[in-house]
Amino acid sequence: MTYLDSAAQFYRDVAITPEVGLCCVQSTPLRLPGLTIPAVMQEMNYGCGTTVHPAELGKDPTVLYVGVGGGLEALQFAYFCRRPGAVIAVDPVAAMREAAARNLAIAAQENPWFDPGFVTLLTGDAFNLPVPDASIDVVAQNCLFNIFEPEDLTRALQEVYRVLKPGGRLIMSDPIARRPIPEHLRQDDRLRAMCLSGALTYDQYTQRIIRAGFGQIEVRTKRPYRLLDRHTYGLEENLLLESLDTVSFKVAIPADGACIFTGKTAIYMGTENSFDDRGGHILAQGVPLAVCDKTAAKLAREYPEQIMVTEATWHYDGGGCC
Ligand SMILES: C[S@@+](CC[C@H](N)C(=O)[O-])C[C@H]1O[C@@H](n2cnc3c(N)ncnc32)[C@H](O)[C@@H]1O
Repeated sequence: MTYLDSAAQFYRDVAITPEVGLCCVQSTPLRLPGLTIPAVMQEMNYGCGTTVHPAELGKDPTVLYVGVGGGLEALQFAYFCRRPGAVIAVDPVAAMREAAARNLAIAAQENPWFDPGFVTLLTGDAFNLPVPDASIDVVAQNCLFNIFEPEDLTRALQEVYRVLKPGGRLIMSDPIARRPIPEHLRQDDRLRAMCLSGALTYDQYTQRIIRAGFGQIEVRTKRPYRLLDRHTYGLEENLLLESLDTVSFKVAIPADGACIFTGKTAIYMGTENSFDDRGGHILAQGVPLAVCDKTAAKLAREYPEQIMVTEATWHYDGGGCC
């Protein structure tokens, strides 16, 4: 039995008997006017953040949701994309697809606007998405890809890249680890399935996304997820896991490397009205300009007297240039 089989078995069990609080973090649930989330869907919230960012959904996209769980986020996406087949949700675990179908039927009773036909539930897995090349605007996955071993994560990211249209978006929420998780925990299939021991570090995770071809990554939020305490997990020191919400774009990787936005800004501190770095950035005096980390490092290095670079806020939702 492989670790993927163990994960499928684990999710079969929690589809049949919901396990409240399995992955979720303490955060304000996404409240949307006119949306009622059935209680059973909330119990089966097995995500570690959110992938539903309204600003990404204004153009009536076709959404492919990988690892449907109890259907909560499929319902939230359907809230924005109200047409038959707008949301395609994939899961290899029959019991999970059946639970999601039941939950979506309940949602239809509680939400007059919702038709279960807005969500198409399909058998499939992250390595073989049952849709053609370049056919999807938004792919989302919440707390699934962290379960995969690194080479499988790369396969899953490459498969997402295949199905996205040019310019399409991969929206993810996954745990990341403050430092590498020791091998004795990484080898524990049950902890891995529970999203507790497969997490990569931030750098490893973002580099895998870039290596799959994504030219821009935006960090929407980063917050504490779980503590692996040294007593329970046999560690020399406690290890904090954080949940990272990102949006990655299928755009070309610039010659000088991918752009990662973490909320840094550059501020011109000089006495002129503005500052032009001749690299595409014009900074009005005293006004923060959102920049990617690569540009932030370059400006700080080249103009330490003229430009202040602010720390990452770990929140960025568009508007930067680099
Ligand atoms: C941690 S749960 C997350 C569920 C959902 N995204 C949520 O936020 O509640 C992982 C989900 O991925 C599914 N899954 C497990 N292995 C998978 C695979 N190889 N490909 C796609 N989905 C998988 C599980 O059945 C489960 O529904």
